[in-house]
Amino acid sequence: MVTRVLKTDPEHPESNIISEAAQILSDGSVVAFPTETVYGLGADALKPEGAKRIYEAKGRPSDNPLIVHIADVSALGRIAGEVPREAEALADAFWPGPLTMIFPKSAAVPSETTGGLDTVAVRMPSHPVALALIRESGGYIAAPSANVSGRPSPTTAEHVLTDLDGRIPLILDGGEVGIGIESTILDLTGDVPEILRPGYITQDQIAAVIGTVEDDPALGVVDDTAHPKAPGMKYRHYAPNAELILVSGKSRDVASKINALAEENREKGLKTGVLCTEETKPLFNADMVASIGSREDEIGIARHLYALLREFDECGMDQIYSECFSDLSIGTAIMNRLEKAAGHKMIEV
Ligand code: TXA
Ligand code: MG
Repeated sequence: MVTRVLKTDPEHPESNIISEAAQILSDGSVVAFPTETVYGLGADALKPEGAKRIYEAKGRPSDNPLIVHIADVSALGRIAGEVPREAEALADAFWPGPLTMIFPKSAAVPSETTGGLDTVAVRMPSHPVALALIRESGGYIAAPSANVSGRPSPTTAEHVLTDLDGRIPLILDGGEVGIGIESTILDLTGDVPEILRPGYITQDQIAAVIGTVEDDPALGVVDDTAHPKAPGMKYRHYAPNAELILVSGKSRDVASKINALAEENREKGLKTGVLCTEETKPLFNADMVASIGSREDEIGIARHLYALLREFDECGMDQIYSECFSDLSIGTAIMNRLEKAAGHKMIEV
C-alpha cells in the first residue's frame, strides 16, 4: 500500500482534503491525523472493522481499547450508557482538550473498539483538523496514537510516516503538535474518580472542578504485580530502540555517573546518548548530548520528549541515559512516560 501524505492547514483545514479522508474512514479504513496532544490513527469507532484495521496497522494487542473522539458534547449520549454530573462539569472545563473520560459503554459501540471492555473512553480534541474530520465522518473516530505499538507517540507527520509507511493509506500533515504527550485519562465508572494515565491536565486541575480524585493505585507500582485499569499502561511503551536508563540524584552526581558509564560504553564500542537540560548540558561528555530545554519549562519538556527519544535512535545510539524531572504538575506525566519508556530502569546516585 502507498501511504499518501497531504499537507493540511492546521487552523483552517481544506474541505476537499477532509472529505477525502472521511471517505476513507467510511470505507472502513484508517487515516492518521493531528490532535493537539499527539497524532492519532483514526477509524470509524462504530464499525468493528475500523478497530481491526487500527490493530493491524499498529501491531497493537487487540485487548488494548481505543479512545473514541467526538466533536460535540451532545455526541456522548449515543455511546455512553451513563454520564455522571462530574463528567458534565469536566467537559465544560476541559473540552475540547486533552482529557479522556471513561464511561459505561452503550450498545452502539462495538466491543472491538473497546478491546472487549464494557466501558468506553471518550475525548473531544481541540485540534481543528481533528474536529473537522470527526464532524465530516459521522461524529465518532476511534484513535490510538499513530505509532507502531510500543514506540514513542508521534508529534509530527514524519514520525507517523517513519512508523506506518506502507501500512496506512493517508496521513494528514498539520505540522508539529502543540502539547506532545497524550491526554489525561480519568475513570468515572467507580465510586471515586481515578486517574489511569497522567497527562497534560493535572490532578489538581481536575480536583479543582470535582473535588476528590485519586490515582489508579497501579500507577506507582513498578513490578509485574500491578494491574493498571487502562490496559495500555501495562505494556512497555513510548520506548526508543536504544536501551533507556533514568538516573536520579543531584545534578553533579548524575553527570559524573553518566559520564563514567559513557566511558565504559565507549570502551565496549557502544554509543551513548544523554537526555539532559539547558542547565546541565555543559556537565556531560558522551556521543550525543541533547538538551530537551530548560528545567523551568516543563511544558516545553513534554512537547519535545518523544521527538528527542526518536532522534537518539536516528543517530544510532545504543544506550540513552536521562536525567529525572520533578514529579509535580505536568512533571507527573513526563516522569510516567520516561519510566515506562525505560521499562522502569533507574539508577539512584
Ligand atoms: O492524547 C491521546 O489520548 C491520544 C490522541 C490520539 O487522542 N490517544 C492515545 O490513545 O493516547 P492510545 O490508544 O495510545 O492510549 C489510550 C489508552 C490506552 O492505555 C488504553 O488502554 C486506555 O487508553 N483505554 C482506552 N479505553 C479504555 C477503557 N475503556 N478503560 C480503561 N482504559 C482505556
Ligand atoms: Mg499510544
